[in-house]
Amino acid sequence: MITRSTLGEFIISNQKHFKYSSGELSRLINSIRLAAKVVNHEVNKAGLVDILGEAGDTNIQGEDQQKLDVYANEIFMQTLTNREIICGIASEEEDDFITISGKDRGNDNKYVVLIDPLDGSSNIDVNVSVGTIFSVYTRVTEIGSPVRLEDFLQEGNQQVAAGYIVYGTSTMLVYTTGHGVNGFTLNPAIGTFYLSHPNMMFPEDGAIYSINEGYYIHFPQGVKDYLKYCQEEEDDRPYKARYIGSLVSDFHRNMIKGGIYIYPTSSKAPKGKLRLLYECNPMAFLAEQAGGKASDGYMRTMDIKPTELHQRVPFFCGSKNMVEVAEGFMKNYPENAEY
Ligand code: AHG
Ligand code: MN
Ligand code: MN
Repeated sequence: MITRSTLGEFIISNQKHFKYSSGELSRLINSIRLAAKVVNHEVNKAGLVDILGEAGDTNIQGEDQQKLDVYANEIFMQTLTNREIICGIASEEEDDFITISGKDRGNDNKYVVLIDPLDGSSNIDVNVSVGTIFSVYTRVTEIGSPVRLEDFLQEGNQQVAAGYIVYGTSTMLVYTTGHGVNGFTLNPAIGTFYLSHPNMMFPEDGAIYSINEGYYIHFPQGVKDYLKYCQEEEDDRPYKARYIGSLVSDFHRNMIKGGIYIYPTSSKAPKGKLRLLYECNPMAFLAEQAGGKASDGYMRTMDIKPTELHQRVPFFCGSKNMVEVAEGFMKNYPENAEY
């Protein structure tokens, strides 16, 4: 029988990578693991809760029904704040970042977390995979003082950890601390994550493109040209089109099979739709750690200087060679690099 290590064991045995962290980062990943299990439980009964809640928005226990993205946000926020592992958190679901202070002393933790608690939320009602994305930085302001905006507005290349949970046909937690990407699958019967996908790597090339092609008419010319290239009869083309509409799930499939995900600017969304800090940077870190690539079509995502918490950027991410070909088409229209 193959014995796989559990996520808990893996975290402990990899703690040596962080000799200065005194276990903080390990405790942080552990909290995310716990919150993931709670959210997973709720996501899995989403359809049921809907049925039970039909008459008047309360469930069978008389509790108010919550939208799952609000629920996921509360669970992750609570789990991470209660344990006093981090000093601040920013969420896609909150207007501003939150300072976490200790009970009867100043908080002397050094990490901040940015989170998209429920990604792909439009898929919940139709039983299609959703996810959670997280990103971890070391604060840049003085330890012990309240966190400031600059602790969150760091370039993606400063991330110390990033990952996602995909609540899919099985639930997986995939993360990196800068030493490759590892994937853990939840055994729901016993509530334990097992290392199922060690050292995940994007194939260098792929044959899948993932983009909301319904907006074709609004895309910049470079993207239109690349899409025509994807559809040409040549070599291994035309590629397959696959778009789930939940970045986590599209990314996960492309990492395993080889592919490119694109959410470009458009005349409807002149800066793109995805959030640099909650979505693009963590996925970019994972992509690069898995041998893939991520850019805004012109420059490396992780080198973009953030200017605001909820900043949006265009996103090209996936198999290295595919992203480079797409960037080649974008280069023909340098004027579109300013968005
Ligand atoms: P969220 O549910 O966190 O708002 O993110 C949804 C994002 C992303 O996951 C997905 O790929 C994209 O929005 C889908 O957008 P379109 O419906 O415009 O294609
Ligand atoms: Mn999202
Ligand atoms: Mn979201």
